[in-house]
Amino acid sequence: MSVFTGLTEFDPVPSLQSEASVTVSTKASEAQVVGYLVAHDGDIPDGPGLTRAALEAAGFEGKAGQTIVLPDADGPMTVLVGVGDAADLDADGLRKAGAAFARGTQKHNDLTLTLGELGTVPSDVAGQAVVEGVLLARYRYDVLKGKPTVEPIRELTLVVEGKRSAAVRRGAARGVITAEATNVARDLANTPPALLTAIDMAELATGLGKKRGLEVEIFDKKALIDLGCGGLLGVNAGSAEEPRMIRLSYRPASPRGHLTLVGKGIMYDAGGMALKPADDVHATMKNDMSGAGAILAAMIQLAAVGCKTAVTGYLMCTDNRPSDTSIAMGDVLTVYGGKTVEVMNTDAEGRLVMADALVLATEDETDAIVDIATLTGAAMRALGTQVSGLIGNNASLVEQVEAAAATTGESVWELPLERRYRGQLDSDIADIKNLGGANAGAITAALFLDEFVAGKPWAHIDIAGTAQNDRDTSWRPPGCTGVGARLLVDFAMNFKRPTA
Ligand code: BES
Ligand code: MN
Ligand code: ZN
Repeated sequence: MSVFTGLTEFDPVPSLQSEASVTVSTKASEAQVVGYLVAHDGDIPDGPGLTRAALEAAGFEGKAGQTIVLPDADGPMTVLVGVGDAADLDADGLRKAGAAFARGTQKHNDLTLTLGELGTVPSDVAGQAVVEGVLLARYRYDVLKGKPTVEPIRELTLVVEGKRSAAVRRGAARGVITAEATNVARDLANTPPALLTAIDMAELATGLGKKRGLEVEIFDKKALIDLGCGGLLGVNAGSAEEPRMIRLSYRPASPRGHLTLVGKGIMYDAGGMALKPADDVHATMKNDMSGAGAILAAMIQLAAVGCKTAVTGYLMCTDNRPSDTSIAMGDVLTVYGGKTVEVMNTDAEGRLVMADALVLATEDETDAIVDIATLTGAAMRALGTQVSGLIGNNASLVEQVEAAAATTGESVWELPLERRYRGQLDSDIADIKNLGGANAGAITAALFLDEFVAGKPWAHIDIAGTAQNDRDTSWRPPGCTGVGARLLVDFAMNFKRPTA
């Protein structure tokens, strides 16, 4: 595909080749590694044959995230994973425990984990969380390496008591699907820009979408010109590669509502004519399509999880590069639907490509619009790398996104849609400009988007800070995080038409 790597066959979604088989059983199987979840209080499981006093003497108290490995010359390696106080245990704690187990056993691909004490966590939720923790923590972006850095999971067996097994099995199956969503989103964002252009993304979406029950429509440059998508075309003006708008449609039988998702798909953000400095942040800008990637990764799982909501997704894909043909500062673009935008900074390009899709979304018979974008450095400054920004015009929709964030551990925090700052976007020569003042940049970016949703229920998720992880933490390995994919699956599944 790309001349740089010489790779003729390149798989942009290696996670879909995963051979991980997850089973739930009432008896321990023969595995290389046997693990046990151990609470800080209550009984120690029989398996390892150790007393609490002996474990404490070895420094293991069952605190959340703590692990102890007991090697055995003949039998399997035994690993105990602490989950803290049983009464405080929740899905997040179990996801972290699954991750700690996967991390403590990096050299092994055949794992058995006895769940034991689950506190008050429902069995299906527990099964899903543990499986997510294991599969997410073991992810590495290794396709461009000579040999993999960790052993991929081949067999994972969860051992539970008989009365829990059906529900844990149901949850575990869902965990395989949701973990795959995140890992596909990670693959897409981690892929170098030359290996995943807007055209590649459209081809990939077409192939995957058809396999997973989605209708896929591709809008090439000519189609975008015919439609009048001046935002996406304007940002694309400096690129040798054509843009693509991808529309995905998931239509279950008798849907319970219609949700439209809009994703920023800047395959590489150099800043355009306002070229970014060659710093560490610029070096992560292959991830500027993480919003579009999260939507694609989520939508290919909607049929598998039995989502009852109709979902439409717009992926707005192009590079943002400087060249003789780039738009200049001061240029005016006409967005789909006719509003004009004065481009004060070509590096504030995400909002330009999103504007076309937001207007298109308002023309569909949709109950709500949710957009997801690596939109502003300001969101990263305000909330760091663990919490995404959330801004909306409808409290009941914002609450639904918050609920999905809590369930999936993909944290969000609401910022205000403060209309007193709207004046910062006033332009002397166009309807609006694409740049606010020095402060509250995440909010002024959202106010810009708000201009195009025609008052429909809308929420915006700014993942600029959370799309990238520089440290290796729990279920988030270093690199692109795939944030948003699991959140969107959960959100779509539980979607209810927002109340006014
Ligand atoms: N893709 C960036 C936002 C970003 C910055 C993501 C840092 C991740 C880390 C976006 O297109 C951008 O360049 N935003 C500018 C906007 C500014 C020019 C108003 C920013 O945040 O600096
Ligand atoms: Mn930019
Ligand atoms: Zn950008």
